[in-house]
Amino acid sequence: MKIVDWPAADVLKIPGDFPPGPLFTVPPILAELRDNRPLCPVEMPSGNRLWLVTRHADVRFVMNDPRFSRDLVFPGAPRMAGDDLTSVAGSLFNMEGDDHTRLRGVLSSCFTRRSADVWRATTQRHAHDLLDHIERAGQGADLVEDFSEPLVARVAGDVMGLSRAEHATTQEHIRRQLDLLGSQEQITSATTALTELAGRLVDRAAESKGGASGLVTTLARAAREGTITREEAIGTTGLLLMNVTDPLVPPLTVGVMTLLRHPRQLGECVRGPELWPEAVREVLRYHNNGITNFPRVAVEDVERHGIVVSAGEGIVTSALAAAHDPREFVDPHVFDVRRREKGSVFFGAGPHFCLGSVLATVVLAAAYEVLFKRLGRLRLAVEPHEVRKADGGFFACPESLPVTW
Ligand code: HEM
Repeated sequence: MKIVDWPAADVLKIPGDFPPGPLFTVPPILAELRDNRPLCPVEMPSGNRLWLVTRHADVRFVMNDPRFSRDLVFPGAPRMAGDDLTSVAGSLFNMEGDDHTRLRGVLSSCFTRRSADVWRATTQRHAHDLLDHIERAGQGADLVEDFSEPLVARVAGDVMGLSRAEHATTQEHIRRQLDLLGSQEQITSATTALTELAGRLVDRAAESKGGASGLVTTLARAAREGTITREEAIGTTGLLLMNVTDPLVPPLTVGVMTLLRHPRQLGECVRGPELWPEAVREVLRYHNNGITNFPRVAVEDVERHGIVVSAGEGIVTSALAAAHDPREFVDPHVFDVRRREKGSVFFGAGPHFCLGSVLATVVLAAAYEVLFKRLGRLRLAVEPHEVRKADGGFFACPESLPVTW
């Protein structure tokens, strides 16, 4: 049966039918789907019906199988809520095959050990500066407004060559673009605005003499030399604007909440800072980002669990559900920074595996380390159940997190 023919009563709605568990934990319905409906039809806010995949093995399968394509740059492609970053031509994220390999090769040259060291030092410097401000202001702070958001803004600004004002505008565009409750017009206009901004950044990088190893500079230079097109430089810069910001704020906030609820493990990290990258990976496994990843489209019929995903139908993986699959992880509901299992999919898998995985880990680890070293008695200033989720966002994040120390 084609997905459009499924009776409405059997189709779950995202996000409405997927309320989170307590304290930003995994939506309980994902366990039920993993056990009983490993391929389940869901309706996205766009009105599109997609197949939702929840088992770890199936998520890896979809991410690795070229019959599921990330190229959604065509009218009528399956969408989350509207024409978001998955609709942008020239973005690495939306390409497949040889063109994807060629563009990815250009960008990979920026993700070196040296750049990780630079990002670590940048994060440490900004984290100390923000904590100086917080301490000077006296007891009590909002971790989102005073630490997580400005820290990520500053690091992203340095990495992408954005002024503070440009960064604020970028943030606003991204918020509107990834708003699951936003209108189609709002999402399209935000995508257009972000692509225009990316174009200005590429032009500026092409004119500048310094920063030869920066992300945008590398793309601009490759476009000048003809290795990639101008559209690819701009589309991929737009993707990076989102990547260096949006997925980092939630783990910096929810992760702090969760670490505070596990004081023994937190103490071990503070005493043995080499454990911080493990803590980051466990935060990302435990909370992940969003109910689902971005969609893919089947380019031929694929059968799985007795169901045929027909060519042209959309499919979406839930790395969050996969991270809590007991077929893969021992006691997946337990937060354990010393967890031994590898192979988690919070950074994706296959050809589109996250290029920034090392950098993201470095930034989050440095931020946790500085925060808990400076504010050794950090604690929530409200009851954990009082912390509210911000509305609409793709990534689940508290709207504020009052803390004291
Ligand atoms: C905690 C933070 C992050 C998480 C959880 C995350 C997760 C992911 C995931 C799951 C994908 C693959 C999606 C798919 O195949 O459907 C991806 C792709 C990507 N990520 Fe990340 N990411 C993070 C941070 C970053 C950062 C900081 C950067 C860059 C500086 C980055 C750059 C990219 C790029 C360029 C791709 C596209 C790769 C391709 O299509 O070949 N990410 N990320």
